Amino acid sequence: MLFSAEEFVKLKELLILYQCALKNISTRIDILLEDFSHFQASNPIEHIKHRVKSPESIAEKLHRQKLPITADSVTNYLTDIAGLRCICSYAKDITYIAAVIKRQPDISVRSEKDYVTYPKPSGYRSYHLIVDVPVYLTDKTIMLPVEIQIRTQAMDFWASLEHKVRYKYKDKMPEHLSQELIDCANKISELDKRMYLIQDIVDMAYLHHDAPGH
Ligand code: GTP
Ligand code: MG
Repeated sequence: MLFSAEEFVKLKELLILYQCALKNISTRIDILLEDFSHFQASNPIEHIKHRVKSPESIAEKLHRQKLPITADSVTNYLTDIAGLRCICSYAKDITYIAAVIKRQPDISVRSEKDYVTYPKPSGYRSYHLIVDVPVYLTDKTIMLPVEIQIRTQAMDFWASLEHKVRYKYKDKMPEHLSQELIDCANKISELDKRMYLIQDIVDMAYLHHDAPGH
């Protein structure tokens, strides 16, 4: 299924606005990165990636949800047209980064899903925020949703592999593979915790070493 020529023109215009919303959010994260690396004790963000969903995958999603393939459907029903992924070092940084984003007064949180505390049955872990971001145009201000996914490097590694496997089997993944992935997800979560503990021990030792009288 594809957009009609007329709807495609409308969609292209709409995607320009989503691109602006994404730019807005990614600039905010870039600024946080500057703050973390110059003014804070440490920088929990490893890197960010962002994308605007392609017309093909928008059409595919609308079709899957039995919605009309129109620009209006995009505006009314989809919230992941603009997406940003924030990859951090440790799981405990995730809620902190989410809080730092949420405190910005001109963005509003539309929804929040904590798949870190409550992983999906697939084993998927990540923290999702859908925020409405202002886009200031010459004559009006519009609010557009941006999906922010916050996860560790290990969770990101897992999610890309699982996505590839799922894509390959078109949602008919063999049971032994889905079990293997669940097992990997649990091991990854364990590893995330152990690595954080090492980091914590090193930080503490460093603090004591630096403390006056040592
Ligand atoms: P979508 O229709 O897929 O957007 O799901 P949703 O609107 O119910 O939201 P949800 O929070 O479940 O998922 C949003 C996004 O998170 C997806 O588009 C994926 O990028 C990611 N995601 C969610 N579940 C999984 C999963 O089991 N595996 C992987 N690899 N990614 C997932
Ligand atoms: Mg989605």
